[in-house]
Amino acid sequence: MSETQYYLFLFLSFLSPVLLILFFNNLSKPKSGSRRLPSPPALPLIGHLHLVGGFFHKSLQNLSTQYGSIFYLRLGFYESIVVSSAPVAHEIFKTQDIVFAQHPFPKLCFGDELPYAKCGFFNAPYGDYWRFMKKLCISQLLSPGQLERSRVVREEEFARFVRELLESAKKKEVVNLGAELIKLTNNTLCTMAMSTRCSEEGDKADRIREYLKTTYEIGSKIVLGDVLGPLSRVVLWLYGKQFTELHLGIDGLLEGILKEHEEHIGERENEDLMDILLKVFRDDKAEAKISRIHLKSFLYDIIVGGTGTLAEAIVWLMAELINHPNVFHKLREEIRSVVGSTRLVEESDVANLPYLQAVVKETLRLYPPFPVTTRQCRQSCQLAGFDMPQKTVVFINLYAIMRDPEVWDNPNEFWPERFLVSNKEHKQDRTGGETLLSFGAGRRACPGSRLGLIMMHTAVAAMVQCFDWKFRVDGHSGKVNMEAGKGVFMHLAQPLTCLPVVHFNPFASSI
Ligand code: HEM
Repeated sequence: MSETQYYLFLFLSFLSPVLLILFFNNLSKPKSGSRRLPSPPALPLIGHLHLVGGFFHKSLQNLSTQYGSIFYLRLGFYESIVVSSAPVAHEIFKTQDIVFAQHPFPKLCFGDELPYAKCGFFNAPYGDYWRFMKKLCISQLLSPGQLERSRVVREEEFARFVRELLESAKKKEVVNLGAELIKLTNNTLCTMAMSTRCSEEGDKADRIREYLKTTYEIGSKIVLGDVLGPLSRVVLWLYGKQFTELHLGIDGLLEGILKEHEEHIGERENEDLMDILLKVFRDDKAEAKISRIHLKSFLYDIIVGGTGTLAEAIVWLMAELINHPNVFHKLREEIRSVVGSTRLVEESDVANLPYLQAVVKETLRLYPPFPVTTRQCRQSCQLAGFDMPQKTVVFINLYAIMRDPEVWDNPNEFWPERFLVSNKEHKQDRTGGETLLSFGAGRRACPGSRLGLIMMHTAVAAMVQCFDWKFRVDGHSGKVNMEAGKGVFMHLAQPLTCLPVVHFNPFASSI
């Protein structure tokens, strides 16, 4: 039984008289205003649930080819609008940014049992707390100054990453690149956020990575509460224990690290994010009062938001490079001509590597780690000429927008050259609006985009500069299958298992 069928079965098996009344009241009518939104035919109760499969972004993209750039969808009790074109997304992100400045808050947040769900940054409503933290991100936590100060952390982590790969190459050991990259991004973010190198801290390492895995796995199930409407407590029965254990585990770990920081406040030469947040936490004159839970859940959001997204984006990029040796060699040649053959590529080189930048952009266009983002309108408004009542939930299909044939030439082709200045005559440059939306846009855009891009560029440049990559599956070589796995995060279905072969060893004299 597929996952969708399972939920469908679950949903139907809990039919109650209340639901039948709702059914006969014809709940499935799309919200209508001055104009009626297009919408696929709906089934009683489940609405359009049967039309979306395990590949949510693809299902929505397929529906948009029939129902247009804005249409209505009802998933069980979850009413939503789906947007799949750059001009309508532009209206949300730019023209009406303030109206759509929040992500919808999942109905099922377990009340007081899971305070993290209520205090998180991603779910925070547009209000004093979110604005305060956003300002803090821009001015301090993820500011260019703080990123410069934490550069040494990333350099150490990248060097360690390359050394480990050199070891694997020496032993002719096939590596799971995704797992290695998760370790790299996790260690770097944990060190920047709270000076905790996961893999060196014994069980802390595995615990954080385990928590992250579970968070990614069950995070998307929270929205099931909205889908099930009056039966949302079913999700609590199914996953409540898992959610609570996850929450308690994360909280215990972060609380321990927080206490260590409190004991050594002011002693660290290079402040980490927890030090900065602790100062704000203790400052009675701060613009907004943040609680201990806010502080911990913010740090966890940063680690959740940055670890998997970054690692997955790099996996897609390396897979494309393995399948496109011409791009790989062009990139290596660019790195060689700028960096030379005596040292490892550094963050400061990236500005002089336009082809590397184009390769990264092209990967994020084709494989946005969050293919669909959400918004909720804070007040009733009009979108693309349709009435939107207050609290309307909007799915913005970034994946579909960045593969729109109206905007991009050969949209499904991996062709980094489209981003080079010499190729400025492409369709996307004539639309006027923002079309590369991998980090979202507007007030709720990703605050970690600058850091994400720095890390992605440097990791890829180092992997290309130092190694040839032989893809191996069941002991054989060949092309990487670029099929995506099921789920709300975009990831490669098969693990990217490769044999690294040393091309250049930057530590040759010291190894
Ligand atoms: C390749 C890397 C990354 C990608 C593609 C990515 C993408 C995104 C997207 C699409 C959103 C939703 C934006 C919207 O709704 O408009 C988002 C939000 C967010 N991201 Fe990232 N992200 C990446 C890396 C990071 C990193 C490194 C961090 C932390 C340092 C981070 C922290 C966050 C946070 C906290 C939010 C919530 C923002 C809010 O609700 O105001 N992300 N990200």
